[in-house]
Amino acid sequence: MIDQATIDKIFDAAHIEEVVGDYVTLKKRGANYMACCPFHSEKTPSFVVSPAKNIFKCFGCGKAGNPVGFVMEQESLSYVEALKLLAKKYNIEVKEKELTPEEQQHNNDRESMMAAAAYAQDYFSKTLHTHIDGKNIGLPYFVERGFTQKTIEKFQLGYCLDSRGAFSNTALRDGYKEDFLVKTGLSIKRDNGELMDRFYGRVMFPIHSLSGRVIGFGGRTLKTDKTVAKYVNSPESEIYHKSNTLYGVFFAKKSMVQHDKCFLVEGYTDVISMHQAGIENVVASSGTSLTTEQIRLIKRFTPNITVLYDGDAAGIKASLRGIDMLLEEGLNVKTLLLPDGEDPDSFARSRSASEFNEFIDKNEQDFISFKTKILLNDTKNDPIKKAALIGDIVRSISVIPDAIPRSVYIKECSKLMDIGEEVLTSEVTKLRKKNIYDARSAEKPKEEAAEESTVEAPHTPTLPSFVENIFCKEEEKEIVYSLLKYGNEKIFDTTVATYIIQELVSDDLNFQNLEYRKIFEEYLAQSKLQQAIDVKYFINNPDQKICELTIDLLSQKYTPSKIWQHHGSIMSDEERLQNDVPKIITVYKAKVLTQAIARIHADMASKNGDDLDKLMLHLRELNNIRTEVAKKLDRPVL
Ligand code: CTP
Ligand code: MN
Repeated sequence: MIDQATIDKIFDAAHIEEVVGDYVTLKKRGANYMACCPFHSEKTPSFVVSPAKNIFKCFGCGKAGNPVGFVMEQESLSYVEALKLLAKKYNIEVKEKELTPEEQQHNNDRESMMAAAAYAQDYFSKTLHTHIDGKNIGLPYFVERGFTQKTIEKFQLGYCLDSRGAFSNTALRDGYKEDFLVKTGLSIKRDNGELMDRFYGRVMFPIHSLSGRVIGFGGRTLKTDKTVAKYVNSPESEIYHKSNTLYGVFFAKKSMVQHDKCFLVEGYTDVISMHQAGIENVVASSGTSLTTEQIRLIKRFTPNITVLYDGDAAGIKASLRGIDMLLEEGLNVKTLLLPDGEDPDSFARSRSASEFNEFIDKNEQDFISFKTKILLNDTKNDPIKKAALIGDIVRSISVIPDAIPRSVYIKECSKLMDIGEEVLTSEVTKLRKKNIYDARSAEKPKEEAAEESTVEAPHTPTLPSFVENIFCKEEEKEIVYSLLKYGNEKIFDTTVATYIIQELVSDDLNFQNLEYRKIFEEYLAQSKLQQAIDVKYFINNPDQKICELTIDLLSQKYTPSKIWQHHGSIMSDEERLQNDVPKIITVYKAKVLTQAIARIHADMASKNGDDLDKLMLHLRELNNIRTEVAKKLDRPVL
């Protein structure tokens, strides 16, 4: 990790106009610079660079950020990689955090392992292209599979000779230490002390890290003998962590950003064939089920993912559960079912890029409908099976963090399964409450000390627990604006941030907009550590969306709601905050209430008996609170 002092140095040195100027031609306009946006195509410039604020913003496509963000976007780099690139530009020595001797050793080991892996890749590729067995056995295999020379080179494919120690012995002779050959799994130490090649007699698929370094291999046998494992893979090691690696991600990242989409396939050959067909935004989970880390890796580049399924996949049903994790991470998941008997590899090979794309456009469907249809096929008219199916679908929908897609899916599934929307909604709500509850009790093993001094602040009436989180975008934005702009200011005997946090947490309210929520949760985390937050933290945030949003809210162009502008200059800043911040919170809660009431009214239309009575009770309760809230807002009715 780069230490914070170095990061600060880089941020101080990197002038936005110099950084952007390396990529586009800037024209001076007053205090700012203008250019045609490098992130979308345009003829008249709407891309502004502000040296004073050290940020860029495009008024055409909305992208905004700091110098690091610009480089990340432009070069498809990770945060750390972008920092390193800027450090190079400004001749800043990157001091990786002071390392203990053990850490130093660990780093050296990693480097030695990387070196061994790079050496092996080179050796296997040379063998493929120049050794007689490579040319006669390995290469023809790839060629028969339809891989072109260009593809073979791009993916650095290779061949490991069918003689047990050929690679290991050459590597030792070339000075690579036994220790690292074994640790990377390239060699296996036998009982008699000799090294044996793990991959002998296999064609080699190197696995690259996000930044393109070789960290592992998959070796495919050329034998058709069913008792021989089709693939042998590098073992887990200090440089190859299977759970956070995706095959192909290095080659896919640029295209993932460009197309704002990622295809997920199963194996090495699927990735390679799709690339060759011109579809480059594709990664593989390498036969295992996806992990959260892999999903987050994809999310760094795009929230849109399409999972490709073989036409004859017996495994579809088994894999459905894994997809829930994608939903849970807030990704937009689609599926593409290939024709019978085809896998992505064969399909890509037998079609042109445009045919493939046309097929995608026609056949892609959202995951929830896909799952529903697949499972419905099985239930026929069996009510027990159908009930299980509904439970299953409800579970999938309930993990989706955003309210809007949730309700869209509920509508869709209600049609597909021929079951009332309200039933689904109430089941999803029930499950969400349970999930949230479970997560909380897992997080908080012991009661938090309740000895906090009481804050002399107005408290908006507490909302009853049956009020579900509701999406009030404008109000959420106002609150985030208050946090960013005034978070550390004093209000009553606390800070604005703490006040807001207490108000929302006590009502179980969390933002529905993901970016707002991230900002809020960051404040929440920091407040637990009793630390103040500098907005620089958000402006210089590794997450570009957060950075953009912060810049937007703090830029002059943003006009907060009228609440902030009522009093002219009669009040001091502190007095103004004491008035306005509670008001913003109250307005937000009022809006939540109003929508909750509307929802109950709508529900009542289709209910009778006990259910109706329960809703009436809820309604009465909400109406009472509404009166109280209205009083707070000095308004007779909301
Ligand atoms: N896989 C593996 N070990 C195995 C089988 C499969 O690691 N014994 C992984 C590989 O990453 C493989 C993926 O699962 O690419 C998909 O498996 P499969 O479809 O069997 O392999 P393909 O790569 O499609 O191989 P081929 O087309 O040559 O049969
Ligand atoms: Mn295959």
